[in-house]
Amino acid sequence: MKVQTRVKSAIEERQSIVMIRRGLLEWSAQNPRNLPWKKTEEPYEIWVSEIILQQTRVDQGTEYYFRFLETFPSIKALAEADLDQVMKAWEGLGYYRRAFHMHETAKYLMSEHEGKFPQTHDEIIRLKGIGPYTAAAISSFAFHLPYPVLDGNVMRVISRLFCVDLPVDSSEGRSHLMQRAEQLLDHDKPGQFNQAIMDFGAMICRPRSPVCKNCPLSTYCSANQNDTVNSFPVKRKSKQKKERYFFYLKINKGNQTYIRRRSKADIWQNLYEFYLVEGRGKQSWKDVLHSTNLKIDVVTYSDIYTQALSHQKITARFAEATLHSAEELLFEQGFIKVNQKKLRTFAYPKIIDCYLGDKALNLNSSS
Ligand code: ADE
Repeated sequence: MKVQTRVKSAIEERQSIVMIRRGLLEWSAQNPRNLPWKKTEEPYEIWVSEIILQQTRVDQGTEYYFRFLETFPSIKALAEADLDQVMKAWEGLGYYRRAFHMHETAKYLMSEHEGKFPQTHDEIIRLKGIGPYTAAAISSFAFHLPYPVLDGNVMRVISRLFCVDLPVDSSEGRSHLMQRAEQLLDHDKPGQFNQAIMDFGAMICRPRSPVCKNCPLSTYCSANQNDTVNSFPVKRKSKQKKERYFFYLKINKGNQTYIRRRSKADIWQNLYEFYLVEGRGKQSWKDVLHSTNLKIDVVTYSDIYTQALSHQKITARFAEATLHSAEELLFEQGFIKVNQKKLRTFAYPKIIDCYLGDKALNLNSSS
């Protein structure tokens, strides 16, 4: 009797997998989402879209997608561009290492791959900046290879469908979800299926206020059946954000300003910035200015700019100053002198960009 029940539930389970797969593809056919990267099978364009969408919402990413392809229409164009130009095209998107890796990869493809995007999953996943998610997306969308995608949307859909109570941000949770994603994948239409489940997560199985009433999968959804949809996905407790206090000196000489490209291996690597003093806690300007050995006259002090990044909260203040010391001191530290009119042609972290454009003081983003 026991054996019979187990066998029956395995059959039921298989049936429900088939029904979910079919339901997702039908829903997608009936509710087409107008996304530009769905109209192409050109791997370069799909690569660009997927790198942008790694950490960026579709509504914000779309504009960047068009602009990036207009500026760099091919692997060759991207490889031949200057890094500063690529960073500028990425300005405001955040997670700038993505742009740096794309540039590196484009150069690599030109020198080692005759400028062609590789066509196998093994080669794709070895490219810089491409992890399992992006490799699966490019492989399935551009080459119809059967690799399931597991992004935030997909994890949410699967964790609700199967009441997965392992945290989605744990390796155990991810590997469990990946097994489910592999079971669900349609091997005849992997690209279509992957797009369908992502779109379904974005439009129906939303993080907040999911549309369970109109959900074609509600009868197969364990969380819906148990009335626990809002308990999934399970996440580990988030860590408190580290607070950092930045004091930027926009140092001028005549109509020129000193800026420097950040070389530190962090989220702002390769972006430009002004002279920076990182304060310990809430220091005063007086202490900060005292700590530098520059001879400057401060002309103006800015308001406070704050920005919440994924793991830290930045509070920045800016002072505009005139330099009286020898500028060699700054050149030795990697600064270059730029005409103020040209200042905006360089790429900056969003907090500096907002200061330069005198935009909103409170930012809540990833750049
Ligand atoms: N997020 C990541 N890739 C996506 C895609 N291809 N369509 C919609 N959202 C996405």
